[in-house]
Amino acid sequence: MINDIVVKVRDLHVYFYTNQRCNKVLNGVSFDIKKGKTLCVVGESGCGKSVTANTILQLLPELSRIEKGSIEYQKDDQLIRIDQLQKNGKQMRKLRGEDIAIIFQDPMTALNPVYTVGHQIREMIFEHIPNLNKKQAFERSVKSLAEMGISAPEQRDREYPHQFSGGMRQRAMIAMAMSCAPKVLIADEPTTALDVTISAQIFDLINELKTQHETAIMLITHNMGVVAEMADEVAVMYMGNIVEYGKVEDVLTQARHPYTRALLRSIPVLGKGKDQVLEPVRGMTPDPFNRPKGCQFCPRCDFATELCENKMPPETFIDENHYVRCFHHEEVIKHAK
Ligand SMILES: Nc1ncnc2c1ncn2[C@@H]1O[C@H](COP(=O)(O)OP(=O)(O)O)[C@@H](O)[C@H]1O
Ligand SMILES: [Mg+2]
Repeated sequence: MINDIVVKVRDLHVYFYTNQRCNKVLNGVSFDIKKGKTLCVVGESGCGKSVTANTILQLLPELSRIEKGSIEYQKDDQLIRIDQLQKNGKQMRKLRGEDIAIIFQDPMTALNPVYTVGHQIREMIFEHIPNLNKKQAFERSVKSLAEMGISAPEQRDREYPHQFSGGMRQRAMIAMAMSCAPKVLIADEPTTALDVTISAQIFDLINELKTQHETAIMLITHNMGVVAEMADEVAVMYMGNIVEYGKVEDVLTQARHPYTRALLRSIPVLGKGKDQVLEPVRGMTPDPFNRPKGCQFCPRCDFATELCENKMPPETFIDENHYVRCFHHEEVIKHAK
């Protein structure tokens, strides 16, 4: 490996074409996913988090297109331009699962109800590791369930998805995703459907993968609390752009984008009790077909000026690892102190 960057996304533009209208869903998104680190992508619903994740795996619907930008995957010492691979070609299929795995919010959509969980894990295993006999594959699937903290794994292996609880299903999904030891795990709001205790267990599991297997992790969430717990690096997304990006300690304590600051005000503080006032982000996200000309956050921002209305702020680097898309970031941070 040349460096620790496993996936490198630069200036990614993805447009959706519906009813002869063009929705510019991603408008120049850049970030890295690094070995043994967790990148959290955070932002309100509809800002483009899932589209970003699905673009990396070329799982976009027909009506959408990568207009511009690049997605590089570093495999051993080789660089693969994912965006140039055929969507359903052999190389792309091999990459999914073997190199980059993804888990979704609702594991039921990804699990097939008519096959046992073990059968589905073995299908993955057979696809990526040929020449295993049945017994070896069985042992491997049971082992992967056990590693995910599922008790009585041999029995569980023979059960169907509906016999699993929500938390168990998500563990089974992670078992499936991890059974081929991928270099990258993309988790798209993996615990949104689960209660707090089970969510905490799933997050512990993801942390274990990071520390023990040095898996590069991209974790999507709409919750700043999850970011504070899980992230090494953070990308804050708003309306198809990353508005702030950096190490978690910098973004949480030195946030320079008004949107990041607004999200931070919406985290409940432990111990402050139920009476604390959590401020939702003021205003609504604009209609994607009727976007502001300049900064997308402009209509909701206390710092906005005429410049912001007319020009999209570029990525401004505060230091090597921290950038912000805001013309007034100096003022924002002064104001906060
Ligand atoms: N299948 C689709 N058809 C049309 N538009 C879509 C589709 N999926 C996503 N979009 C558009 O892309 C935007 C971003 O969606 P998404 O990435 O799913 O948001 P989120 O940040 O909640 O994951 C949506 O607001 C919508 O305008
Ligand atoms: Mg989503």
